[in-house]
Amino acid sequence: MRILLAASEAVPFAKTGGLADVASGLSKALSARGHEVTLVLPYYRQAMSEAIPRQPTGRFLETSLGDLKVRAVVLESRLEGSDARVLLIDHPHYFDRSGLYVQQGSDYPDNCERFCAFSRLVMETARAFHLQPDIVHANDWQTGLIPALQQIEYRRQSGFERTAAVLTIHNMAYQGTFWQQDMHLTGLGHEYFNWNQMEHYGQLNLLKTGIVFSDAVTTVSPTYAREIQTDRFGCGLEGVLQHHGSKLTGILNGIDIDVWNPESDPAIPMPYSKENVKPGKAACKKKLQRRFNLSENPFTPLCGMISRMSEQKGFDLIQGCINDLLREDIQLVFLGTGDSHYEDFIRDLASKRPDKVAAMIGFDETLAHQIEAGSDIYLMPSRFEPCGLNQMYSQAYGTVPVVHAVGGLVDSVIDCTPETLADRIATGFHFQEYTSDAFLARLKDALAAYRDDDVWDVLIDNGMSCDWSWNRSAEVYEQTYERALASLPNNPPSTPE
Ligand code: ADP
Ligand code: GLC
Repeated sequence: MRILLAASEAVPFAKTGGLADVASGLSKALSARGHEVTLVLPYYRQAMSEAIPRQPTGRFLETSLGDLKVRAVVLESRLEGSDARVLLIDHPHYFDRSGLYVQQGSDYPDNCERFCAFSRLVMETARAFHLQPDIVHANDWQTGLIPALQQIEYRRQSGFERTAAVLTIHNMAYQGTFWQQDMHLTGLGHEYFNWNQMEHYGQLNLLKTGIVFSDAVTTVSPTYAREIQTDRFGCGLEGVLQHHGSKLTGILNGIDIDVWNPESDPAIPMPYSKENVKPGKAACKKKLQRRFNLSENPFTPLCGMISRMSEQKGFDLIQGCINDLLREDIQLVFLGTGDSHYEDFIRDLASKRPDKVAAMIGFDETLAHQIEAGSDIYLMPSRFEPCGLNQMYSQAYGTVPVVHAVGGLVDSVIDCTPETLADRIATGFHFQEYTSDAFLARLKDALAAYRDDDVWDVLIDNGMSCDWSWNRSAEVYEQTYERALASLPNNPPSTPE
């Protein structure tokens, strides 16, 4: 198949969260399975580094958002170790900025214009490069306009008559909602601003737009696919998702095992596999303790957490039990950035208890690898989690996750019970209720297991034996693409351009 994947971030070009890992991981996996994959991204300042090879294509794009003309040029690159092609949309006014979506804690005021323009430029890229895609696969609200453009405008044009529209929802908490005056930026007629299509409670909603107009919608785990059809997790769009439920599938993300593999990870002090996990992790732990001036005691369990510091990630649960937590023989290492009140809380904790808590407020890919390798336990007490990647990285690195039993965490961590231990399938610890007490109780269970070598070795071995490669998920995406193509009307509208 010819697949055009559109995303607002992808490693190594730009990253704020898991979407970046997924966009490139899935592109590589689909390409390795023989598909012709083009990944289209904004050309952000983050991608302008010497380390990223790219070249001009000589192609210019032009589109309009209502009365506003938008022009861009296109650069070309590749995903390392893959045939997947990357096209970067160069529009300095929109994308040559310090952040991707946010500056000093506030959304850029022109985000609607930036990503409506990007969505239109993606479709114009397909035209300019004669890609004739079978599938245009959009991701999250930033590209939520694309399925609407496909259905309303492009399907009538040559080269797009049999192109299916697929949308993946990575997070219902971000919907791209804008005041109704921004509707003109979509370039679509006001008749689409109604509650069945692009409007939601008086606002333009780009995620809803993508859901409504796609031929198939996926989200990033089977459990989250069920959860978002309920009012607890649907963030107000549960009714829309129920209505479109027949085209919704949950597909668990994979991980890029070329990048997240303790056997070949250049960021960690000693590479290791299942066979030498003990000395390997011991060396990585010691180095991590040293880096953060924690006592280099090999027996104190070290708990790591790498995360956007947002409401989603469960920092409030840690706040709620921190005094009890610090009474344990434990070390805590945090890496993250985000909401200032959580940053302040963690920074403050590290300065008051340097014997037990270390923190790095910022974004540091290398340190993320070192924390995964050097920790014994990984904390993921997320309030909700569409998929989550770090619990999978943790298992691959022999680090045992403690997770809230929601979304992708349920689908990727097998709770440790006497039965799952005996069956040699347990890989971590679930807590059910979203409370500090429930989290603390289950973390204490994990600490007890840590002190029992027989149990701990089994947990590590089970986790490291799991297959998290993208190939498995890519196969399910293929089936979804096939279904989306099969659902296209036989006689598409054939109005000339
Ligand atoms: P989300 O996309 O909701 O942030 P995921 O678990 O899917 O959560 O993915 C987060 C990704 O971002 C992981 O690869 C994680 O290691 C990375 N990450 C998050 N915060 C940081 C940080 N401060 N420094 C380095 N990597 C980070
Ligand atoms: C989102 C979700 C996260 C998921 C990631 C990639 O940011 O919060 O759970 O893993 O997207 O799909």
